[in-house]
Amino acid sequence: MITILTTLDSLKNHRHAQQGTIGFVPTMGALHAGHARLMHQAKHDCDHVIASIFVNPKQFGANEDLEKYPRTFEEDCALLDECRVDAVFAPTIEAFYPEGFATEVRTLGLDHVLCGAHRAGHFTGVTTVVARLFAYVRPDRAYFGEKDFQQLSIIRRMNEDFPLAGAIIGVPTMREADGLAMSSRNRYLSEAQRATAAIIPRILRTITQTATPSTLDAMLAQARITLEEAGFVLDYLEVRDADTLSMSTDVSHARIFIAARLGTTRLIDNMPFVQ
Ligand code: PAJ
Repeated sequence: MITILTTLDSLKNHRHAQQGTIGFVPTMGALHAGHARLMHQAKHDCDHVIASIFVNPKQFGANEDLEKYPRTFEEDCALLDECRVDAVFAPTIEAFYPEGFATEVRTLGLDHVLCGAHRAGHFTGVTTVVARLFAYVRPDRAYFGEKDFQQLSIIRRMNEDFPLAGAIIGVPTMREADGLAMSSRNRYLSEAQRATAAIIPRILRTITQTATPSTLDAMLAQARITLEEAGFVLDYLEVRDADTLSMSTDVSHARIFIAARLGTTRLIDNMPFVQ
């Protein structure tokens, strides 16, 4: 049975009692097969795997879904057990950010484009929580999904600057049969919206498989129209360099990134270009 840890002291003690390599997978719960893929990779690579489940209020904006974010702790523990994860750290907000907590960790540059431009303070919330988790877990390897590619890039940068984890491992995006990237937020979609959502991976796939530097702009413009006609409100649909996240038309080293809202649900996805 998985060990459940709820205080920072118990996490620290548990970590120090382990021998061998420690893998760490931070999450906000509402776990699905995308999360499971990270757990399996960690279990494959490391002697001991610790996951965390914490809906981090610092990374939610005032008008975002903090209150209604799905919480499914029992099912999550069953999935972690199936993945043979050794321990889960699941603190309350007060246990994780005790009174007097006053420090922010911010990674400049990469945080003001894409989602950073639309979710003020979001990535500072992410780097603050991840740095604090890393400080207690001190993992040999920490696992993050390419589904949140900008988050992965920012965590890599943060860990270069403050190396609290031995290595940051990126894991490819797990998708539903129709291509939709798995996400805890997909459960907000109505049946009709869920069917519409599959347009996102179809469009990304078409562009990444067929665009050339000379057709890219026209394909992006057409894709924006198609998405808006299907009912999406776009935050962005952009092609950016895979390392710097700066605007790029060099499809040999770029990814396409999208954030789009269907009703009140915000979906994100990204893909590399096929060479
Ligand atoms: P959460 O959205 O729960 O995601 C936890 C991890 O699972 C992230 O690294 C995310 O990229 C990965 N993930 C989610 N869906 C995936 C999919 N379909 N395929 C592969 N990986 C997937 O991301 C967060 O939580 C938080 O910001 C966190 C890093 C925990 C900090 O609070």
